Amino acid sequence: MRVYIHDQKEGDQRDPHDSGQAVSLEDLDKLGVLYYHHDDMESVDKIAEERGYVNRDVINITPEGLGGQEIYEQKLKTFYAEHLHEDEEIRYILDGEGYFDVRHKDDENWIRIEITKGDLIILPSGIYHRFTLSNKDYIKAMRLFQAEPKWIAYNRPDADSNPYRETYVQKFLKV
Ligand code: LAC
Ligand code: NI
Repeated sequence: MRVYIHDQKEGDQRDPHDSGQAVSLEDLDKLGVLYYHHDDMESVDKIAEERGYVNRDVINITPEGLGGQEIYEQKLKTFYAEHLHEDEEIRYILDGEGYFDVRHKDDENWIRIEITKGDLIILPSGIYHRFTLSNKDYIKAMRLFQAEPKWIAYNRPDADSNPYRETYVQKFLKV
């Protein structure tokens, strides 16, 4: 796992886009983003129990698995649209890799979080983010969730007036 400012340069979203400017886990924490690394499932189970994630499933994303290159590329675009959810987004990476981009406090930069096997990431509800696979085009991830997850993606700018967005802004950005 590496965390850095996205270079905002043109090019394939699946490339690293590393500006060379690192971001600390403390800075992520200030945005409400939690990061853990565990190679054993017992530790993941413990976090799940503590945080009330009673359910889970596994998603396996590849171009073939999604039905071909064209559908895959459409999906990549959807994942990469800036959006938020009304619940936390929790992912434990089992294999492969990808990048979560979360909005910097300045609301102009993106913080890119590279996630690989053993990484567990928790995005708070209301945070603007986007996701992409890397140029390996493969990720296998466990999705953890509370009883009935609200996984609808609300895209920006429509989501600006969403109450969960307002709560996030009050809690993490107005400090
Ligand atoms: C999701 C990723 C794309 O909402 O953020 O599943
Ligand atoms: Ni999302």
